[in-house]
Amino acid sequence: MRKKIVAGNWKMNNNKQETAELIESLKLLSFSTDVRVMIAPAHTHLVQAEKLTQGATIEVLAQNMNAAESGAYTGEISARMLQSININKVILGHSERRAYYNETDSVLKKKVETALRHDMEVVFCFGEELEERKKECHFEVVRTQLETALFGLKPSRWSKIILAYEPVWAIGTGETASPEQAQEMHAFIRGLISLKYDQNLADSVPILYGGSVKPANASAIFSQPDVDGGLIGGSALNVEDFASIIQSV
Ligand code: PGA
Repeated sequence: MRKKIVAGNWKMNNNKQETAELIESLKLLSFSTDVRVMIAPAHTHLVQAEKLTQGATIEVLAQNMNAAESGAYTGEISARMLQSININKVILGHSERRAYYNETDSVLKKKVETALRHDMEVVFCFGEELEERKKECHFEVVRTQLETALFGLKPSRWSKIILAYEPVWAIGTGETASPEQAQEMHAFIRGLISLKYDQNLADSVPILYGGSVKPANASAIFSQPDVDGGLIGGSALNVEDFASIIQSV
């Protein structure tokens, strides 16, 4: 059975002090062992986050990394750098990285390969834009994103992949996909994986939903059979909201 996952993407929020306070508040909560709780603070706070979460059931992941092993890439960080501070998980392909930093599916393919070569776990984000949904080509968009970035992977590599379907029109907008829309897309994704690989693999891959998940809508979305949890932005910055979302999974 797939384990549930709730991951908080803190984006470019929280200074050092605020990061420590939020982690300390999260540590006071008790979560079911059936759910993996993850947080992704800014790169500057990963060392601190890793230390503060030792012994707690909170996993820390990075928000991004470069595909190259090392070299002249000013401002970037590598898989080896993350691993040297015990960070073995990374979010790749977030729509903000795609939109503002030109991360195409071919770039992301390389990043995913680098992460997996280092045996890191990847939360891979993808999803259609509003125009694409309006034109009803959202299934095609998602198919292309997955085919380009992930479908070249050997089946054994998929044990380190967590998918996060995030329709761009729902991110930070207050607009959420309905539970039925989320389920429809998640089932479609599982179908694609089953066609490309096999049903066992398709059934084993966690698929999270992301985009304006809040305490008020989390249960309805998470109760869908193919939704295995969520990638949470804004609501992960508030301890009560994040706790309530974790309890809804
Ligand atoms: P949101 O962000 O929950 O604020 O919509 C989700 C995300 O960007 O992962």
